Amino acid sequence: MTKTILTGDRPTGKLHLGHYAGSLKRRVELQNSGEYKNIFIMIADAQALTDNFDNPEKVRQNILEVALDYLSVGLDPEISTMFIQSQIVELTELTFYYMNLVTLARLQLNPTVKSEIQMRDFKSSIPVGFLCYPISQAADITAFRADIVPVGEDQCPMIEQTREIVRKFNNIYGEDILVEPKVLLPDNAVCMRLPGIDGKAKMSKSLGNCIYLSDTKEDVQKKIMSMYTDPEHLKVSDPGHIEGNTVFTYLDAFSKPEHFAKYLPEYASLDELKAHYTRGGLGDVKVKRFLNSIIEEVLEPIRERRKAYEQNIDAVYDILEEGTKKAKAVAAETLTKAKEAMKLNYFDNKEIMTAAYRK
Ligand code: TRP
Repeated sequence: MTKTILTGDRPTGKLHLGHYAGSLKRRVELQNSGEYKNIFIMIADAQALTDNFDNPEKVRQNILEVALDYLSVGLDPEISTMFIQSQIVELTELTFYYMNLVTLARLQLNPTVKSEIQMRDFKSSIPVGFLCYPISQAADITAFRADIVPVGEDQCPMIEQTREIVRKFNNIYGEDILVEPKVLLPDNAVCMRLPGIDGKAKMSKSLGNCIYLSDTKEDVQKKIMSMYTDPEHLKVSDPGHIEGNTVFTYLDAFSKPEHFAKYLPEYASLDELKAHYTRGGLGDVKVKRFLNSIIEEVLEPIRERRKAYEQNIDAVYDILEEGTKKAKAVAAETLTKAKEAMKLNYFDNKEIMTAAYRK
């Protein structure tokens, strides 16, 4: 038990099933494995502001939503420290020193930043804060001396950037000052990027194609029954396609052998179900109902836990305040160590500054 995990999310909306499949489920498993010394889960409000600076209200409102989502999926504040990024000034200070170690060209080459710039239509007016968020993310990760960063594959360029910064820092200022992190990707390939219910590549709030963890049972059912399937599968008797069929992609991500025994005993496995669909003679509605039962098994306990925390919002506030205090202490240690390595601790040690005049 020596390893430390850090990960987090931007609070720009409620978390959805894509977040669950791609990262939250894994976080809970990692937490419950008992194999990690420290687990930090950060609500990245400062990073969220890099592209929502004109809407701080949205970011602020969603801090509590994300915290509720964390708690309701089973992250346990006794084990996993949940905290709010902007309240830890040490992160900003580290970011400032790391900025010297990164070139503009390198930031502009970062594939995630590149695609986000396109998506946000920044064109030539890219806010500097936004462009630099990979540097601030390096500060997030290194401040907590995290060696493992469980994230989706879209975050790989951020971890790579962090590793470069760490190597450069340690090279210049002293071996082993900062810890070089490793990315931990979801173990199930289909979980890496769950499509939206409309079949589009990704669940995203702006596309309106998400199943939220806080959706009611009725909402979820409605969404699943309206899911994109195979547009050529018009009659039950028609042969159907599995590839690109959202319902089957979700089954790949969520179904387990025991679900068949419980809800669809006439099929032994997902392969058999797929074979029947491909052959023809299996209707979408039946498959969607099956998926709905499985998703409800996932969401029901999450919904229940959320309800309990919603009724005790002061406790959630306290969890965040306590977590932030604890996280700040760790970040402060790292900042002190980094500044010592850079010999910026002038007032701890008179010699550093005045040696030349004390011969
Ligand atoms: N960039 C991440 C996202 O958009 C959020 C994040 C901020 C993060 N700092 C982090 C993730 C540090 C992992 C580690 O979801």
